[in-house]
Amino acid sequence: MCGIVGYIGEREAYPVIVKGLKRLEYRGYDSAGVALRDGGLKVYKKQGKVADLEEYTVGKDLHGHIGIGHTRWATHGEPSDRNAHPHLSNSGNLAMIHNGIIENYAQIKQELVNKGYTFKSDTDTEVLLNFIEDIQINNTCSVEEALRIALKRVVGAYCILLISTDEPDAIIAARKGSPLVIGIGKGEHFLASDASPIIEYTKEVVYVNDYEIAIVRRNELILKNLGNEVQTPFIQKLDMELAAIEKGGYEHFMLKEIHEQAETVHDCLRGRLLPDQGKIIMSGIDNHLDTLVNAPRIVIVACGTSWHAGLVAEYMIEELCRIPVEVEYASEFRYRNPVVNKGDVIIAISQSGETADTMVALESAKEKGAFIFGVVNAVGSSIARISHAGAYTHSGPEIGVASTKAFTGQLAVLTMMALKMGYAKGTITSERYIHLMQELHSVPEKINEILKDTTAIQNIATKYKDAEDFLFLGRGYNFPIALEGALKLKEISYIHAEGYPAAEMKHGPIALVEDTLPVLFVATKDTYYEKIVSNIQEIKARKGMVISVATEGDSLLEDMSNDIMYVPEIDELIAPLLSVIPLQLLSYYIGIERGCDVDKPRNLAKSVTVE
Ligand code: AGP
Ligand code: GLU
Repeated sequence: MCGIVGYIGEREAYPVIVKGLKRLEYRGYDSAGVALRDGGLKVYKKQGKVADLEEYTVGKDLHGHIGIGHTRWATHGEPSDRNAHPHLSNSGNLAMIHNGIIENYAQIKQELVNKGYTFKSDTDTEVLLNFIEDIQINNTCSVEEALRIALKRVVGAYCILLISTDEPDAIIAARKGSPLVIGIGKGEHFLASDASPIIEYTKEVVYVNDYEIAIVRRNELILKNLGNEVQTPFIQKLDMELAAIEKGGYEHFMLKEIHEQAETVHDCLRGRLLPDQGKIIMSGIDNHLDTLVNAPRIVIVACGTSWHAGLVAEYMIEELCRIPVEVEYASEFRYRNPVVNKGDVIIAISQSGETADTMVALESAKEKGAFIFGVVNAVGSSIARISHAGAYTHSGPEIGVASTKAFTGQLAVLTMMALKMGYAKGTITSERYIHLMQELHSVPEKINEILKDTTAIQNIATKYKDAEDFLFLGRGYNFPIALEGALKLKEISYIHAEGYPAAEMKHGPIALVEDTLPVLFVATKDTYYEKIVSNIQEIKARKGMVISVATEGDSLLEDMSNDIMYVPEIDELIAPLLSVIPLQLLSYYIGIERGCDVDKPRNLAKSVTVE
């Protein structure tokens, strides 16, 4: 996720681009830059927000009627001036910006290094740029042709804009997996990741398709496929207002991010989970596999939703790797002078990578000789930097304060981690390893099945929006999901909710049950199923209202429940990635019914950087 803007026409490009980048900062904002074509190529780029770039360019030569600009959400190479886009090729004749991930960049980079290419950044983008230049030089062909040849080799996702000293009057663009919109003006064209930078200039747009290359001049837009065949641009009229465009047409960022999860889980698994090859490739684990697999114990430290991901990880790692795991609230861990020995592994889970409680817990464990592994979303964040190794969730910027897509990204990373370690340790069979890889691989498609029709969930939200209390119950892998569902409802709708192990009710909390209390069971088909059915009976016997999250086709639970939400069948170890989705939606729709500010709930902050 990042923001891309390009302009070619009569206007000065710089102001158009900078204004457009500001509209796209919600897509990613760890650094920003612009390249202008005015005779040669001028590149100005800076770590930080677009405002920092503007401050940096004061007094510089900003003329040029062709330009490209970028706000970065880093995936390869921490946020810094040198890793910011645009990048210049070795010759300085090409400038490029990129949204996406080039999975096979390391192999291509090695080939280029062997040819004498040098790199100023750690990004995959600069590798692709020099790959294009190398092809152009060796084949003495146009930039467009070199790009076409390069993209046939590239594995991954991209939206790229290229300007070149060889193509004085054109911006060349291409996309696969990352969005690109082209606005059609009079004697000018606008290019962007979405329509928000374009809509004030024109409502006529072309949405570029995957595997298409666009050659954009002032008065001409040519679309071609990778086979060099001209495609007819399909011109559409924008009918969305600016605010709606930033949210991708959804009413709130939270709803957009819930619906992004098939894509973000896919992005997280991309290039790492290879069930057909029986491999999971994660360099942060591969390079420290012995340390992880031979750890005498693992301690997981996190806060809030990330702590719930840690609970799921505890069950998975103990089951698959037979290594003792403890999950600690970071805020508690750091103050109780815990026993931490050299060789212990600490897994820190954090979306923002800046949570103060988690940071300080890590620093104290690191001082005691523990090995720190970070599971983080924000590349180059503080927790990522103090960890000895880690894995990014690649969930993209999460704007909604309530964590949704970052949570499923954490679960995807932690599942691959547990599988990889268990297989390396020999504590799971090849059959179970492959089966679970295939189950994990099916998650994006199954998330989309849940999201296809959310009517039932919306109706349940309307029915229970005035409840004063809620109980969320689960067992096994679904117990942490019950806790997560309760947290979501609390923080989004301000209804008091508690999560509990279902079997624990009979030890006291069942006294709360009466005919006004909704009790939600996360009860997908698993080894605990018969037992949780008994727990449901216990609640019904006391007139409690039962809402269930069940496996598709579960007619028994349909008969037993007052209301039911379904998820597709999946192995219980992977079930949390699906069973959490209805709970995210339920909290969202109840919050809407209650008139709450679901993107910015009261009293909360997106990243708690204070203790
Ligand atoms: C989750 O919906 C909350 N916004 C909050 O509990 C969050 O998970 C917690 O503050 C931890 O944040 P982190 O993942 O960025 O460390
Ligand atoms: N993979 C590129 C980088 O890390 C682009 C990331 C983005 O989409 O902003 O620089």
